[in-house]
Amino acid sequence: MSRRILVTSALPNANGPIHLGHMLEHVQTDIWVRFQRMRGNQTVYVCADDTHGTATMIKAEEESVTPEVLVEGIRQLHIKDFQGFLISHDNYHSTHSEENQHFSSLIYNRLQEKGLIFTKEVEQLYDSEKGLFLADRFVVGGCPKCKVEGQYGDNCEACGATYDATDLIEPKSIYSGATPELRASTHYFFDLASYTQFLKDWTRTNAVQPEIANKLSEWLDDGLRAWDISRDAPYFGFTIPGTTDKYFYVWMDAPIGYMASFQNYCNAQNDPNLQFDDFWKADSSAEVHHFIGKDIVNFHALFWPAVLDGADFRTPTKVHAHGFVTVDGTKMSKSRGTFILAEKYLEHLNPEYLRYYYAAKLNSSVDDLDINLEDFVLRVNSDLVGKVINIASRTAGFLVKNFDGSMAAEVDDSELMAKFSTQAENIAGLYEDGEFSKAVREITGLADLANQYIAHHEPWAMVKNPEQHDKVQLVCSQAINMFRFLAIFLKPILPATAEKAEEFLGVPPLTWADCDHLLSGHKINKFKPMLQRIEAKTVAQLVEASAEPAEQADGKKPAAKNKPQKSSKQKGDSSDSEYIDINDFNKVSLKVAKIISAEPVEGADKLLQLTLDVGDHQRSVFSGIKEAYNPEDLVGRLTIVVVNLAPRKMRFGVSEGMVLAAGPGGADIFLLSPDSGATPGMDVK
Ligand code: MSP
Ligand code: ZN
Repeated sequence: MSRRILVTSALPNANGPIHLGHMLEHVQTDIWVRFQRMRGNQTVYVCADDTHGTATMIKAEEESVTPEVLVEGIRQLHIKDFQGFLISHDNYHSTHSEENQHFSSLIYNRLQEKGLIFTKEVEQLYDSEKGLFLADRFVVGGCPKCKVEGQYGDNCEACGATYDATDLIEPKSIYSGATPELRASTHYFFDLASYTQFLKDWTRTNAVQPEIANKLSEWLDDGLRAWDISRDAPYFGFTIPGTTDKYFYVWMDAPIGYMASFQNYCNAQNDPNLQFDDFWKADSSAEVHHFIGKDIVNFHALFWPAVLDGADFRTPTKVHAHGFVTVDGTKMSKSRGTFILAEKYLEHLNPEYLRYYYAAKLNSSVDDLDINLEDFVLRVNSDLVGKVINIASRTAGFLVKNFDGSMAAEVDDSELMAKFSTQAENIAGLYEDGEFSKAVREITGLADLANQYIAHHEPWAMVKNPEQHDKVQLVCSQAINMFRFLAIFLKPILPATAEKAEEFLGVPPLTWADCDHLLSGHKINKFKPMLQRIEAKTVAQLVEASAEPAEQADGKKPAAKNKPQKSSKQKGDSSDSEYIDINDFNKVSLKVAKIISAEPVEGADKLLQLTLDVGDHQRSVFSGIKEAYNPEDLVGRLTIVVVNLAPRKMRFGVSEGMVLAAGPGGADIFLLSPDSGATPGMDVK
């Protein structure tokens, strides 16, 4: 029986254009979705723009439009970018919609009825000039600990201290520059704490990747706190039922936007086989899959399942988290031209190149994904054009010219042919598991076999010998059949090329079930080029066109109006340059330490447990230097330790910092030591 699957990508913020980082997520989701459709599963893929919050309100004000007009304009641009990359959303809605308001209220009311909502007075900074409560990052002032100025209201980028916005020295509103005052107001909370056990169980059900489950268990073991789901007026969002001046926090209604977009789609389809409740009721047998970036895991794997369960809806089948895109080994950078917008990319390059490259590197882990520009050109040219397309382009002509396009009725090398058909289920399994890079490796491996077969038989030579006339047809027909398998296997990744292949082969849209037969006695069409090679210079042009000067002529960095003049480390922000500034560097606190004891760790070949004297206290640090040092030789020696690294739970205990060492590792590792005269506890600058 076919599965019923609802799939989502995270809802992009309606505050800027789509870049290649966002696109990774939509390409990953789209490949999975297209694969499911080819398998014959009923698959619906929805998304939307995430519109609410103070930032939208302020931006609209600056542009003198209503927030509604602002977000609708951005939504249209986003839709265009996604279509350009062949992303097959069934619906692209908005969180500022009737459906979302409906479900947000419904869910809230159900939580309320179950006693899962409570209110509490919260004191917060208030900008009386703007008439706005200020979220932590909208307040700037001096760090209460190290006194460095220009810090946000949640933590200090200079010394790493965390504090409340109310503790800042001379706090200022970034909107008006006014000194904020403390004001109390009532906030609405969701009782997340009562969901701790539920989430402990849920995160161990394969609903999240194992590495994510491990990360979350650290928080879950500490116990969860109530979640503040309200914001005060003025706010661009939905009012909380029963209030006139309290709004749902944007992260409350954003995931509900998945439901809203789906409901909106169901309404438009008006199909008895597509009913909202069938997918979302508590005991639904349908599947719900969310694809997201690693930065928003807590919203999807903690808050969201708890809220859904509290409101008597089903929980997600699986949350698929991916890592972040880097370019040539570093964060996407505006000054280097590697902060590439989707729209810019499309002005220069075919979307399928990037879809293929992403697929060739994606797996089911949350590791970051690097676009190496040289490798990008190489892989597309050698794998796609050189290997796959080449199979058809080298053989189709002989069939068309000498056999009127008719393929042979028999198979030449059935053993080789069987290698293709027997791989079908293996490759399907890899797609299902999100192991796209492995699928691509299998597919290009098959393409190699096909090319070897053609090279071995040399149809271009055989064609000159009338006695080998029939053999030419056999060999070229086999090549076309092998090409057809590759077209099926690559179709989720390369939908446009697959369509051209279908036209060339003269077959209806290929599905996975087509792996159960071969074309025999079938007539193909004349071969037309399906995909051009990439020219390295086109990539260089794209990078050049994406580069933004780091400084303007007046020596000032281009900065948006009203934004604090400091580097921001917001979730999902990849816009900073690859340099760290002095404040970032100052965040690392290094001290001289004396090794008091060094002990091998049972069960760990590479680790030593060091006890360090850091001047005013001792700490225990694990270090991977066992292969390079005799533990006794280390005792009494001075070294350098990072003292403000968050303690890390390891299998053998907690490591409270890290000692510095040089070298590649193993036996080639060299512990750093200060010159004589340094004493434990000295700051390293
Ligand atoms: N609006 C929220 C999501 C709400 S979902 C109910 C949001 N928006 S976002 O625009 O900041 O990010 C959208 C998605 O793009 C997130 O999954 C995020 O992880 C992903 N990415 C943003 N920058 C990225 C990279 N550089 N690389 C890979 N993914 C990135 O978060
Ligand atoms: Zn500080």
